[in-house]
Amino acid sequence: MAEPLLQVYNLSKSYPVRDQRRGKECFQALNDISFTVNKGEILGLIGESGCGKTTLGRILCRLDTPDDGTILFEGVQIDSLKEKDYRKYRGRIQMVFQDPSSALNPQFRVGEILHEALRSAGIRKPLAQKDRINLLLGKVGLTPALLSRYPHELSGGQKQRICILLALLTRPSFLVADEVVSALDLSVQAQILNLIRGLQKELGLSILFISHDLNVIRYMSDRVLVMYMGEIVESGTAEDIYYHGAHPYTQLLHSALPEQHESLGDEGITDFSDLVLQEDRCIFAPRCPYCSETCLNGKPALSELSKDHLVRCVRLWQSKVEAVSEPSR
Ligand SMILES: Nc1ncnc2c1ncn2[C@@H]1O[C@H](COP(=O)(O)OP(=O)(O)O)[C@@H](O)[C@H]1O
Ligand code: SF4
Ligand SMILES: [Mg+2]
Repeated sequence: MAEPLLQVYNLSKSYPVRDQRRGKECFQALNDISFTVNKGEILGLIGESGCGKTTLGRILCRLDTPDDGTILFEGVQIDSLKEKDYRKYRGRIQMVFQDPSSALNPQFRVGEILHEALRSAGIRKPLAQKDRINLLLGKVGLTPALLSRYPHELSGGQKQRICILLALLTRPSFLVADEVVSALDLSVQAQILNLIRGLQKELGLSILFISHDLNVIRYMSDRVLVMYMGEIVESGTAEDIYYHGAHPYTQLLHSALPEQHESLGDEGITDFSDLVLQEDRCIFAPRCPYCSETCLNGKPALSELSKDHLVRCVRLWQSKVEAVSEPSR
């Protein structure tokens, strides 16, 4: 049976923004997000650029603070812990970022970067450092010869392997992998994805795997969250989301796949008024081809369409109600 590792309840985050028309406003980057990551699973998080994926990942890794909400890690509420009490969890929750070049200090050799990371994690004995680094080099498919090189002397794929190694140094049980192949050549993307899947199995990791690419998400994930403008609009198994996506936004993501020959329009999303006035209606309404009066009268709840498949759309419940009330022939 699935055992939760990380539980998130009602997480919200806003940033102050300046608007010429309205003066100072708050932009809601995350709105009432709840989900669970189980032990040993890859939970995919998909949504287009700017929908809040990185903000969520950063909050989970305590690189940013939420306005509201609760985060439990192994049953312990970590969001309210003081820094000294959080210390023992810091190494257990790690993040791998999109751009490996900016994650590695160009002034130091790779070996120096890794030894320094171990030192700051409290592993100071040179032999223990060397053993840990050599063990992990093998696991990420690199040789010790790379340790004497500077980051700019590595290929994109090698740099991302070093970033993955850096994240693994402290023996984490939970990783946030944020668009980890987006900055890489197509030819090395599959290698890095397979490496992450292999490490996840071998080390029993739980991963929040973030991407804007539905094909990558399907390949990597056990379950998937679909996010639109800071809200979860659908969640389910990778199969549910890829083959039976029920929310109009999920369907739009699917229709935008290269093999579908359609493009994802960006109507609505750049209009500032839509970003701010989102409290009392479906957030997807300005882009939704099925939008009706009901969609503008309150925010739809995330409700169960089938077992573990949740969707935030009134249209689905309307069609269910209509089907139930239709006279039998
Ligand atoms: N520090 C910040 N200050 C103000 N706005 C921010 C900040 N960080 C992120 N945002 C805004 O929050 C929204 C979500 O950003 P982000 O989480 O990076 O999205 P994604 O990773 O899905 O592309 C964006 O509109 C972004 O401009
Ligand atoms: S609630 Fe209405 S506007 Fe929102 S996704 Fe469903 S049909 Fe579209
Ligand atoms: Mg991002």
